[in-house]
Amino acid sequence: MTSDTWTAVDDYIAGVLVPPDPALDGAQAAAAAAGLPAIAVSVPHGKFLHILALIRGARRILEIGTLGGYSTIWLARALPPGGRLVSLEFDPKHAGVARANLSAAGLDDRVEVLVGRALDTLPTLPANEPFDLVFIDADKPSTPDYVRWGLKLTRPGSIIVIDNVVRNGDVLDATGANESAAAMRQAMAVLAAEPRVTATVIQTVGSKGYDGFAIALVTA
Ligand code: SAH
Ligand code: DHB
Ligand code: MG
Repeated sequence: MTSDTWTAVDDYIAGVLVPPDPALDGAQAAAAAAGLPAIAVSVPHGKFLHILALIRGARRILEIGTLGGYSTIWLARALPPGGRLVSLEFDPKHAGVARANLSAAGLDDRVEVLVGRALDTLPTLPANEPFDLVFIDADKPSTPDYVRWGLKLTRPGSIIVIDNVVRNGDVLDATGANESAAAMRQAMAVLAAEPRVTATVIQTVGSKGYDGFAIALVTA
């Protein structure tokens, strides 16, 4: 079993269950044309986030790490009328591409992209308006801090999803030599130590290789 097979199966899944969509397909194309790194969630993973937000009935969604807005579009499309998504992005160029893609997707009224380091913009979010779903997918070393913020900005019933937790098995590296892996281990420790959440990690293979995501439910 090779990564070629993983990509072919992702293509098969997308072909059978995700119809062509001008906004989503256009967002991928625009991000590539603008030279953004090809690190957006895969098509099946994007649709999974969408379904998760629907299951939760999420009215307020927080995303940390916008890139070109591909995952943003999937998540925002799950919002009911009057729902809101805030996405945090450090790079003004990425934010510009994302805003154009969100506009083309007709999501201007529901989505706000805040430019800056997420650790600077998170404290500006109102603490009395909790999010129903938080998707953490930005600079990996800050992930433990993003998990702490996610816990602060959610309520019982909210879901926190963390991308790129497994990274080709790097998460097993307990030496600290790999900064991203060390951060993911620390993020898992934060979840493990928090009695108000129940969490697990799902390993994945696909067009983005071998990785995985954590999912935590805020229970109290
Ligand atoms: N969620 C996107 C992919 C995000 S890639 C998708 O699946 O479509 C990670 C993004 O995090 C990049 O755009 C990067 O510029 C951004 N980023 C890096 N450091 C950041 C920081 N300190 N604060 C906010 N965003 C950051
Ligand atoms: C990288 C970041 C991501 O969010 C991802 O899903 C894959 C790769 C990266 O920075 O290399
Ligand atoms: Mg990611």
